[in-house]
Amino acid sequence: MQGWLRNLAVLSLLLWPNPAAAIDEEIYEKMPPGEAKELVFGHCSACHSMKLVVQQGLSRDGWADVLDYMFKEQGMMELSADERRRILDYLACWYGEDRAATKREKP
Ligand code: HEC
Repeated sequence: MQGWLRNLAVLSLLLWPNPAAAIDEEIYEKMPPGEAKELVFGHCSACHSMKLVVQQGLSRDGWADVLDYMFKEQGMMELSADERRRILDYLACWYGEDRAATKREKP
């Protein structure tokens, strides 16, 4: 897919009305900043609340399995190798087994 078209697709996912939007907005505020934050939020809140994602604490391999499962079994759009790497970097960094994002939220 063309780069701009992909960006448009991600943007439309971001703007898609979603019953869990209020909860997700709160989660978005709490998500650590990062290059891939929008990418993760855009893709992963399209079908379900981000709550499903941020409550997890998985290794990078664990997240890779989740991404495969979302793509193969749940109909998630195919990610480019670059997007996949960026999403995995972000999830493994902040939502890894040590749940760095949760600790970060505490004062
Ligand atoms: C096309 C729709 C779709 C997209 C996009 C999607 N998911 Fe899912 N996801 C689902 C469905 C449907 C379920 C519930 C399936 C189930 O109960 O096993 C689910 C469940 C989950 C679960 C819980 C799995 C479990 O074992 O309880 C996690 C974690 C998850 N998704 C992460 C993600 C992440 C991370 C992304 C973004 C990279 C993402 N999802 C994008 C459809 C999607």
